[in-house]
Amino acid sequence: MRRQLWMALCSLAFAGCATGSSPDRPDPTMTSHFDAAAGVHTAVILGDLDGVRTPAGWLAEHAPPDLPEGSEAFVAELQKYAARAADARNLEDAAYATGRIAQACGECHQAYVRGPVPVLPPGAASGDDVAAHMVGHAWAVRRMWEGLVVPADESWMAGARALECQRLPPEAVAADDLEAADYLEKRCHGLGSRAQLVSGASARARIYGELIATCADCHQRLGRKIAVVW
Ligand code: HEC
Ligand code: HEC
Repeated sequence: MRRQLWMALCSLAFAGCATGSSPDRPDPTMTSHFDAAAGVHTAVILGDLDGVRTPAGWLAEHAPPDLPEGSEAFVAELQKYAARAADARNLEDAAYATGRIAQACGECHQAYVRGPVPVLPPGAASGDDVAAHMVGHAWAVRRMWEGLVVPADESWMAGARALECQRLPPEAVAADDLEAADYLEKRCHGLGSRAQLVSGASARARIYGELIATCADCHQRLGRKIAVVW
């Protein structure tokens, strides 16, 4: 079961996130839950608060099917934070709620899904320009997301390490406010360092929220839509 979970996460990491779409099928499946959750986290990162509302609202109203007996508390937790994301007044609150959503997924899986340990996909190709740097950011954040949802310690740490190591000079970002760009970029990397020091789903979910709020802040300041690479 665990292998199945991991494979589903890997294959959907691209398809589900690339569209950022919410599932429209009437009967929820665990896969549609993954799609919706991925839609929430992609919209937050892109700085698109309106894009958060539909998939988060869907998650708040649909329970995953065929759940093991006794797992209702995890569903309630998931739905509580999905509703918060759907009603969030700003990206920071939506980001925090997204971390808690991933935590709820992971805690239920940890309690009920058993199986082999996930194998990490290869690292992202690195490059010096902003786009390549962002592909690296996206790879790192996706690993950390998997770290929470599967949950998988190895993925969390690999993502955090990758984030810590990437450096982008602020001049490379064509932003009006270079100081803010510099601050936000450093903050992302600093969170990568901090992320390696914390254990426990709750502390990690909080850092994850802070991190994607930082991505969102910079993207929102750009004042234009950015291309989606995942
Ligand atoms: C209340 C418990 C619970 C919650 C909450 C939960 N899951 Fe699951 N999930 C399961 C169980 C149990 C399985 C194994 C199902 C099986 O193999 O039949 C599973 C399997 C999966 C799979 C493997 C695909 C499949 O259909 O078997 C994916 C992907 C997945 N979950 C994603 C998520 C995501 C993303 C969230 C949070 C938005 C989430 N799950 C929340 C219990 C939960
Ligand atoms: C300092 C500002 C800044 C921060 C912080 C930032 N980004 Fe970006 N991001 C940009 C800019 C600028 C672009 C547009 C690049 C372009 O189109 O040339 C971009 C584009 C992207 C893209 C699209 C890449 C492409 O194909 O052009 C992704 C994905 C992305 N960022 C992910 C992230 C993630 C994940 C984080 C947080 C860990 C993050 N970014 C943090 C400035 C930032």
